[in-house]
Amino acid sequence: MELYLNRVTKQYGNKIACDRISLRMKSGVYGLLGANGAGKTTLMRMICGVMTPTSGEITYDGIDVRQEAYRDVLGYLPQNFGYYPDFRVQDFMMYLAALKGLPKNPACERTASLLRLVSLEKESKRKIKTLSGGMKQRLGIAQALLNDPKILILDEPTAGLDPKERVKFRNLISRLGQDRIVLLSTHIVSDVEYIAGEILMMKDGQILHQGSRDEIIRTIHGKIWECCVPETNAEQLCTEHTVINLRNSGKDIILRVISDTIPRENAVSAEPTLEDLYLYYFQEEAEQ
Ligand SMILES: Nc1ncnc2c1ncn2[C@@H]1O[C@H](COP(=O)(O)OP(=O)(O)OP(=O)(O)O)[C@@H](O)[C@H]1O
Ligand SMILES: [Mg+2]
Repeated sequence: MELYLNRVTKQYGNKIACDRISLRMKSGVYGLLGANGAGKTTLMRMICGVMTPTSGEITYDGIDVRQEAYRDVLGYLPQNFGYYPDFRVQDFMMYLAALKGLPKNPACERTASLLRLVSLEKESKRKIKTLSGGMKQRLGIAQALLNDPKILILDEPTAGLDPKERVKFRNLISRLGQDRIVLLSTHIVSDVEYIAGEILMMKDGQILHQGSRDEIIRTIHGKIWECCVPETNAEQLCTEHTVINLRNSGKDIILRVISDTIPRENAVSAEPTLEDLYLYYFQEEAEQ
């Protein structure tokens, strides 16, 4: 099982949304982390075969993803998933199962088990327009699993989920990643921090870094600092450096600072986190 991207590029007019991306993915959970406009959706749409790259190729076990046979192994949750507001949950699943070519009886069983998996079994008779945002998102995940796909592409699957639902979602994704390729996009660090075996950091159409959480965090080792300063000096430090966080400590303020070199005499090097890493690479975007 291997998904292979070879110098995949997508250009919209003058805008290069994906720039010569090469990747190999085997089973496991991959977290595509990037700010708005990084090119995540464009990349995913090309991996799903619904958009043709300007150049480069994408294959799954040697089959081009534009071929019909690929549909059978693919599950996709698009970013702004269009729902059928007047459909009932169960009917919607049955309808999509029919489109995917599943016979009626297995489709019925599969729908019931998937709705249980995403904790929507009690909602099966409700109209989609009456569901909460998080419920709709879980329905989107359920429909992507109808054909028991070997490749599962989830574009911002956690949008609209509350913290409790997020935890359930993470557990579900970890289980699913055991024997398939799961690629999920997000701009929320905590979504990928513990479930993605491999994190892909995307910026301006390129994959900046790829690796385990610890591997990519290592790239900013020695660039995160803690400085303890009197309140009167804190403001100046904030104008000179990117400050991730400040907290009070008695009369002093402790600042967590991004800096390639020691920002102040008494600054202490701090252990970087994935959150720091995100801010380090996406500072400009984060400030907007
Ligand atoms: N159909 C299009 N025509 C022209 N430009 C586009 C089109 N689709 C996307 N873009 C541009 O390509 C870049 C990448 O967009 P894309 O939607 O892939 O980013 P994204 O990482 O998914 O962002 P978000 O986090 O906001 O979903 C952006 O600059 C966007 O404006
Ligand atoms: Mg997107």
